[in-house]
Amino acid sequence: MSFGGLHTDHRAIVAVAAIVFFVLTLVMAVLPALREQAFSTPTGARPRGHEEERGRRVYLREGCGFCHTQFVRDLPMDRPFGRPSRPGDYTLEDPPMLGTQRTGPDLADVGSRQPSEAWHLIHLYDPRAVVPQSVMPAYRWFFAEKDQAGPGDVVVPVPAGRAPRGKVIVAGPDAIEMVRYLLSLKQPKASP
Ligand code: HEC
Repeated sequence: MSFGGLHTDHRAIVAVAAIVFFVLTLVMAVLPALREQAFSTPTGARPRGHEEERGRRVYLREGCGFCHTQFVRDLPMDRPFGRPSRPGDYTLEDPPMLGTQRTGPDLADVGSRQPSEAWHLIHLYDPRAVVPQSVMPAYRWFFAEKDQAGPGDVVVPVPAGRAPRGKVIVAGPDAIEMVRYLLSLKQPKASP
């Protein structure tokens, strides 16, 4: 068979078509499906503790999800927020809080990125105390302004000039539970 005669050799035409069909099926359908299946198995998501779960309710109630997603896309611009999200990441989430609007950063992995409890407390009390250009609202009602801290109070180390003079800022239950929740937002490792 000469190459020039390919278009007249019906066996060659069928063979080439079959090979192209199988290669494309493999590359475009089978391999991506296998890859996706490997990711879809539960990725070791851990059930939330009592306080973390209550923090999650506060997150829902306060509408944090109107400005924050918890869904990392497989795009270069999403790399700073963590690895791409996988179905298995949401096995224990009811409802999953994917979000649609990203006025603030994605929070799917914020517990790994920002592990400081004090930072989160200050940030919730007054976002501009730690991020001067922030447009995030302050959640003052999570906190009490007291003359003196009592025993067992969680005092927030708000920078000088950011709290009313002579007052100490004490974290209320909403603030403490919210921060527990935020710190629990760590993407479990997924196989590549
Ligand atoms: C109006 C939009 C808006 C709302 C509502 C909002 N945020 Fe934000 N958030 C932002 C913006 C903008 C930033 C980035 C600037 C900053 O760090 O303050 C941010 C940053 C953050 C960060 C730091 C993320 C990082 O990667 O450093 C956390 C944590 C956070 N927000 C939690 C919350 C929580 C919890 C709530 C609800 C109680 C909330 N946000 C509500 C806009 C918002």
